[in-house]
Amino acid sequence: MAGRKVIITGVPGVGKSTVVNGALAKLKEEGITYQSLNFGTFMFEVAQKEGYAKDRDEMRKLDKDVQKNLQKLAAKAMSQIPGNVLIDTHASVKTPKGYLAGLPEWVLRELMPDVIVLVETDEDQILLRRISDATRVRDMEGAGGIAEHQQFNRSFGASYAMTTGCTIKIIRNQDFLLERATMDMADVLR
Ligand code: AP5
Repeated sequence: MAGRKVIITGVPGVGKSTVVNGALAKLKEEGITYQSLNFGTFMFEVAQKEGYAKDRDEMRKLDKDVQKNLQKLAAKAMSQIPGNVLIDTHASVKTPKGYLAGLPEWVLRELMPDVIVLVETDEDQILLRRISDATRVRDMEGAGGIAEHQQFNRSFGASYAMTTGCTIKIIRNQDFLLERATMDMADVLR
């Protein structure tokens, strides 16, 4: 059987990596495995080698065409990986010049996902998680800006479903309910 391709998205700090790691640990006990890939890491390897960025949080500030080229290279590399693949990325990236589609047509045609997951929660919870995470250089914006970004991501998701025929699954990752989000994610991956 051909492997499954699942794309996981969510605004920075919503907790997508935390939920994914929990779900993969559960599935491993059942003998279900995925190669877990981070789109940003694939982009950053090239960005760092070419001298465009010194850390991953600088990438969203790069010129749009540079970011698009990095996207293209990352998608091509990831499309070569066989088996069940899970890709941790963004439906859209908030750049200083506006929203950049995270999965434009040329990226989707390489990846052809079965399902795209949107991880969401209330904007005030995301704001607090960003403030508490000292390991990253998070963009500081208010709850209104985060709400707008989540709303845009649903619109991007609809257009991605139109392009590929994939399904869109929304998973809520609320405070104190991480276990529920993890179970929902595991159900999508089974
Ligand atoms: P990436 O590395 O994916 O950055 P990110 O969005 O900041 O992702 P993180 O993994 O850091 O955040 P997360 O939401 O997964 O949260 P976490 O689990 O850490 O991408 C880096 C860069 O690559 C991007 O900025 C962009 O430039 C580029 N890029 C990537 N894809 C691209 C694309 N397609 N096109 C163009 N550019 C692209 O959790 C955060 C915190 O919340 C933690 O402290 C955690 O403990 C806490 N938490 C999680 N869940 C809960 C809960 N239920 N309750 C309470 N706390 C919780």
